[in-house]
This record gives sequence, structure tokens and C-alpha cells, in this order.
Amino acid sequence: MTRQIRLNAFDMNCVVHQSPGLWTHPACRADTYNTLEYWTGLARTLERGKFDAIFLADVLGIYDVYQHAPRAALEGAVQVPVNDPMMLVPAMAMVTEHLGFGVTATLSYEHPYPFARRMSTLDHLTRGRIGWNIVTGYLNSAAKGMGMARQQGHDTRYEIAEDYMQVVYKLWEGSWEDGAVLRDRTTGRFADPDRIHRVAHDGPYFQLSAIHLAEPSPQRTPVLFQAGASTRGRQFAADHAECVFINGPSKQVIAPIVADIRRRAAAAGRDPRAITIFTMMTVITDTTPEAARDKYAEYRAYASEQGGLTLMSGWTGIDFAALPPDQPIRYGDHDAMTSALEAFTIADPSRSWTPREIGAHAAIGGRSPVIVGSPTEVADALQAWVDETDVDGFNLAYVVTPGTFVDFVDLVVPELQRRGAFKTDYAPGTLREKLTGPGHARLPESHPAARVRPGG
Ligand SMILES: Cc1cc2nc3c(=O)[nH]c(=O)nc-3n(C[C@H](O)[C@H](O)[C@H](O)COP(=O)(O)O)c2cc1C
Repeated sequence: MTRQIRLNAFDMNCVVHQSPGLWTHPACRADTYNTLEYWTGLARTLERGKFDAIFLADVLGIYDVYQHAPRAALEGAVQVPVNDPMMLVPAMAMVTEHLGFGVTATLSYEHPYPFARRMSTLDHLTRGRIGWNIVTGYLNSAAKGMGMARQQGHDTRYEIAEDYMQVVYKLWEGSWEDGAVLRDRTTGRFADPDRIHRVAHDGPYFQLSAIHLAEPSPQRTPVLFQAGASTRGRQFAADHAECVFINGPSKQVIAPIVADIRRRAAAAGRDPRAITIFTMMTVITDTTPEAARDKYAEYRAYASEQGGLTLMSGWTGIDFAALPPDQPIRYGDHDAMTSALEAFTIADPSRSWTPREIGAHAAIGGRSPVIVGSPTEVADALQAWVDETDVDGFNLAYVVTPGTFVDFVDLVVPELQRRGAFKTDYAPGTLREKLTGPGHARLPESHPAARVRPGG
């Protein structure tokens, strides 16, 4: 039985996402990120390609670690300016029927009470197609923007995340009972107050006594994505996530992370196969192998290696401008995204990376691998990744947008479908049902969120 591959398009509400410099390529429309037409057009393309979701990254700070200044990021538009990803969802939902929306939102800087309402609102408006990518952040500039001297310590951010999840679970799953909403025009009773509960929480970081503002939405709890692959991050994923997003330059780096997350999920009493794991991938394809390689060579001419190092400095908390360019980098404790540094150091001791090599690598496709080839070469490579690393699918980043996605939809999707490795049509229902099967609009009883349900 050929394993079915899951596919999300990876984008961000900004000019430069994972391929600095390429926004200047004549075919790239990334600088129209601030128009609805860009997003509705992209959403239609992805639904035509039967993509599972569009997955939107987000940061609440600026990449000012490189050269200890924001200059390189501002000049190269490296994830700044960056608009709010949530604002894009209703417009994309309006022009699609099945495409899911995975939205990144850091839980380190916003109280869960208003956040829970916003996600419920999006779940209503999309008829249950919303997912939340849970992140704790990695930029001190975000903390400074929120009035703090610096961000919380790496693992403390996850302790805060644990407390946060308990609050949002209580609001989404524990406040309004099923059947509480009556919409009875005869009696004028919209809801039955006896079936709506004030939830209380008195945690180490969050306190609350409130009724959830929104009536139950199709999924109640959005599909829970998570991104953060440090040891602490993997445990958080194993305890909470339905979908996990990981990233690294090779199978040697990715395969052990996948195995560890599944092992931890089993230890937490969850079905390890119930977690859908996506790794980031960048694909450059064309009708022939030669044309694809020519396209790659052409893109390289636009790629900004300084932009690549600006990203890498932000991700790791290390100023790569201050490092000797041809000396292999070493692992060291930093409070940023631990897994980003592990991926280029201790995660694969057989491969050392110098700043110069990392700049070149990250200039196209960030930390992910880049597959260049014809549709059959790309399909072979993706299926090999699934077989050899046990990932379930890919968050596909773009080099030029929407071109990279259009190429993939027109050329690779039909090849994967021909091989029986990708769906030819969407399953009905909510995003959770599309990912886990009919009748599963809500989180399963085996998920920790179920414990806060009335009578739970
Ligand atoms: C593949 C991947 C994608 C991520 N995307 C984002 C993002 O879009 N925004 C963000 O603030 N953090 C993102 N993070 C990082 C998370 O904020 C994470 O909670 C934190 O940096 C700690 O990461 P670690 O557990 O990998 O050390 C991402 C992490 C990974 C591994």
C-alpha cells in the first residue's frame, strides 16, 4: 500500500520568508503580500492542487541579531515588514471550500482569554478549517516590543505554554456544553444558561474566571499544530500536538526527531501514529531535469547569503556576522530556537557547517533541504523522504511565489496522484476530519483537552 503524503504550503505575511533576495526575481509576487488578491489567488491554486492546508509562519519581533542590528533585515525585507496572518484567513476561506489554514501564533505574549475567542471566530468563519501552530517564540526583539527586558528562558517558555494550554482547553472544551445553544425563536432563548459554565484557572502563569465568549465552533479546539523540536519542544508536542512541524537540512537530522516524538507520544498514552509530522521542504521543478537545474541556477543569482545569515542569526540567537566564516560552528546553549542550532551541529556529528556554508544553504529554502528535479525525480525524492524518515508530509516553502506552488501543483501533484501517493479529492468535513477521519470534528477522548469537558 503506497503511503499517502500530506502537503501544506508554507508561507508568511511578509515579503521574504525562507529565500532572501528572491523577492527581486521578476517572476516573484512576494511584495504583493499586503493585498488580498495575492492570498485568494494562492488559496485557489492550493485547493486546485488538493493541498491539505496553507501554513502561515509568524514572528512578533525583528531579526536584529545579525550584526547586532536590524539593518540587514530591514534592507532585505527579511521577515519584516510582517503583517498579521490571522487577518488573511477569512478572505482565503471565502474563495475555497476544503483548504485548511494553519496559523502560527506565539503564546508567550498574549493572554489566552482574547486569543481563545479569535480562534473560535476563525473556526466558525472557516466552518472548521482552522489550525493553530503553537510556538513560544525565539526573538528577544519580540519581548522588548512587549515591554520585557528579554524573552523568558527557553524551557520556561514551554512551562508557560503548558499553563496556557490548560486555559484555552477549559474555554474551548469546558465552558459551553453541547446543546447549550438553542437558537429558539419561539421562546426567544438563544442559549440555556444552565449548560454554560464559568471556568476557573489558577495556574503559575495565568489566572482566569470566565465564560468563553464564543459559542462552540465546529472543532471547538482548532487543530493543534506545534513547531519546536528541542527536547522540551518534543515533549510538548507529544503531550499536545495533533500535527508537528519540524525542520532540518537532512534525513540524518530529521529521522531521529520523528522517532523521538512518536516514542514520547506513546509514553504519554497517545497513539504515536495519531500525530501527523510535517518536515519543511523546498522544491524547484520543471518539465525536464535540465530545465529544473537551469531554474535553480537562475534563482541562485538572486539569492542573498547575507539574508540567509540574518535568518539563521535570529533563529539561533547567534550573530553569524561575528563568526569566522570558514570555521565550523559549534553547539552552545542559547535561549532562541535550540533545534535550529542543533540541526547544524550536534544533530548530525558526521557533517560540520561553516557560516559561509550556512549562508549559502539558508539563502534558498532556509534550514530545509532543496529538491531540484523533474516531476518524477521530485516524486521519487519525496517518497524516499517519507520512507526513510517516517514523516507524514511536507510544509513546502516557496522560492518565488506563487510560481513555486504553481509548478508543484501543475507538475508534481499529478505525478504523486498517478503513483497513488497523494489524494485525488478532499474528504468531507472539518480540517480535523480531513486529517483523522469522518466523525472526528472534535479532539479525541485520549487527548488531554478532553479531561476538562463537563463530566470529563
Ligand atoms: C520548524 C519550526 C518552525 C517554527 N516556526 C516558528 C514561527 O513561525 N514563529 C515562531 O515564533 N516560532 C517558530 N518556531 C519556534 C518556536 O517558537 C519554538 O517554540 C521555540 O523557538 C523553541 O524552539 P525549539 O523547541 O525548537 O528550541 C518554529 C520552530 C520550528 C522547529
